[in-house]
Amino acid sequence: MRILVSDLTDWLSSLCEDSYSEDGLQIGSGDMQVTGVLFCWFANKAARAAALERGANVIVGHEPTLHDPSHPAPGCPPCDTWDVNVESLNFYEENKVAFVRSHRTCDAYCIPRVFGEHLGFPEPVVDSGWKGYNFTLAYDLTPQPFGQLVDTLKVKMGYDTVRTSACAADKIVTRVGMGWGGVANCRNLQYMELLRQHGVEVIIGGEIDEYGMEYYRDSGLEWIELGHYASEIIGMKKVAQDMATAFPGLKTSTFDDAAHVAFR
Ligand SMILES: [Fe+2]
Ligand SMILES: [Fe+2]
Repeated sequence: MRILVSDLTDWLSSLCEDSYSEDGLQIGSGDMQVTGVLFCWFANKAARAAALERGANVIVGHEPTLHDPSHPAPGCPPCDTWDVNVESLNFYEENKVAFVRSHRTCDAYCIPRVFGEHLGFPEPVVDSGWKGYNFTLAYDLTPQPFGQLVDTLKVKMGYDTVRTSACAADKIVTRVGMGWGGVANCRNLQYMELLRQHGVEVIIGGEIDEYGMEYYRDSGLEWIELGHYASEIIGMKKVAQDMATAFPGLKTSTFDDAAHVAFR
């Protein structure tokens, strides 16, 4: 079966009700014939090398193609001239590999819900959002001490340690809310406030910054940080599997990149 890059981008667009400006083909051309697809969280050097090793000429990444700060600094050259980005752009050019971003598309399609299932949460009691992108996901767990919840989640994630709010380990908690990926960061606190207004006691991140911590502390919310990458890659794997099902014979795989941070 001859599969073109445009077949893949059409399929990805069909996964959700809305369309998202950051998503779609970023590098390469839609009429390229696909040899294989590598899904990843960030298309970093290791992910790009894995694509070549696996014979994939399309990379589907959740996060942006380049390191691109939203506010350029006067005196700093444009980001597409930075060594780190030039190396990445050269890779696509030299190896004739296409890059497709699938960000809010994958979030709306499955990422937070798949993460909730991975953590063993029941069906959400609050599941709402805009045009199928349900940012507001809250779950009622069996009432349990905060410390017990933390221990359970550590096992689910295979972690020895996690960062959490300074909550008493014996405080009983029931309702948790999903703050996967970067959703629990200060720039997305509007979604965390919605969770709080739905009675959420504990935010399950994602990634939590110190500005956000001030909001959580003063709002009486507890939090548990499980990782931006880790909370999203599980959903990306599901999208890769669903793509393989939709295109029989197409080789898809996901790049596991959990070894890029050291805890000492
Ligand atoms: Fe995301
Ligand atoms: Fe993200």
